Amino acid sequence: MSGPVAERLAEPSTREASRFLKALSGETQKTPPVWLMRQAGRYLPEYRELRARAGGFLDLCYTPDFATEVTLQPIRRFDLDAAILFSDILVVPHALGQNVRFVEGEGPRLDPVTSLGEFKRLRETIDLAMLSPVYETVSRVRSELSQNKALIGFCGAPYTVATYMVAGRGGDEQAPARLLAYREPETFQALMDMLVEASAAHLVAQLKAGADAVQIFDSWSGDLPPSEFERWSTAPIKALCDKVRAEVPDAKIIAFARGAGTKLGAFARAIPAQGFGIGTSEDPAAARAAVPSHIALQGAVDPIALVAGGPALDRAVDAVLDALSGFPLILNLGHGVRQQTPPEHVAQLVARVRSAG
Ligand code: CP3
Repeated sequence: MSGPVAERLAEPSTREASRFLKALSGETQKTPPVWLMRQAGRYLPEYRELRARAGGFLDLCYTPDFATEVTLQPIRRFDLDAAILFSDILVVPHALGQNVRFVEGEGPRLDPVTSLGEFKRLRETIDLAMLSPVYETVSRVRSELSQNKALIGFCGAPYTVATYMVAGRGGDEQAPARLLAYREPETFQALMDMLVEASAAHLVAQLKAGADAVQIFDSWSGDLPPSEFERWSTAPIKALCDKVRAEVPDAKIIAFARGAGTKLGAFARAIPAQGFGIGTSEDPAAARAAVPSHIALQGAVDPIALVAGGPALDRAVDAVLDALSGFPLILNLGHGVRQQTPPEHVAQLVARVRSAG
């Protein structure tokens, strides 16, 4: 047989849904999909080599040739089930007109936005043209990735991005943003509203360029007391998901409020996502009990156990599998891969997960 009918018949085998997307469709699988937050980065010699050639970190993010290559490096080495776009959450404030730079060995530095006046100096809407190399990277990665592997796009949650915008850097429990939220809730709300709009546009552009799913990283909201958490984490993430869904109705979304702990149940009931991330310090069994059983959980092996390797790593993987198997699961870390991680330990983790089925 040849022609269009044969092509259609051939589709299911060539386009087999990835384990990752099956988990987000609510499927329980014997062998869960595995990928790792910060799976591309300085712990890989091939990343360090390319990073040295690219110059600055933002140059790497904004050069599709480089960003595509770096996104694919961990997939080639470890055969993970999903690639995550190589970029950063801080490209959103950058495209809103804030000065963002990455200082070698120290991390991000931004010109802080601490008042309504400084806030008004930013753009009202995100300059998507400035981020066009990011979307080009998404489509290039998608075309180079095999169909049984998923491509994840992402953004920071409004609260987490705001903590860097207000403090100008990370650290000190991201306190400057919390202080602004208590002292000037209207100013902080205006910043949140702007970030909801900008982040939605950025996620929609990634989905339209070919991302199979998107993850929203709220790395710092877990520190907030419950009522503040509801106001500055849950409500803006819900608004963000609603805006994305209005343009891409079947968008697959993972929301990760790291350290939400006992706040996870209400968070998951409020937010229309197909997956929720859990952090290292959270009890996976309690998280499972708090989230409806058809919704996937993602996590939560300790990144320090990954540094340790050996039997401790196997035990850490097994503990997550024991607590979360029997439901839709995406095996991941509870936070990003550390720089001092020996790459062989990632291979060990993947082998342990694959032998579990
Ligand atoms: O592999 C991946 O996960 C994809 C790429 C990715 C990066 N950052 C690359 C990166 C993703 C998804 C992020 C998310 C991110 N960025 C978050 C949320 C997740 C988390 O870790 O909590 C946050 C808070 C940031 C902001 C950020 N970017 C910080 C605080 C730092 C400095 C810390 C560090 O490790 O240097 C970065 C820099 C950064 N982002 C690097 C990478 C690979 C290191 C840059 C380098 O090569 O020098």
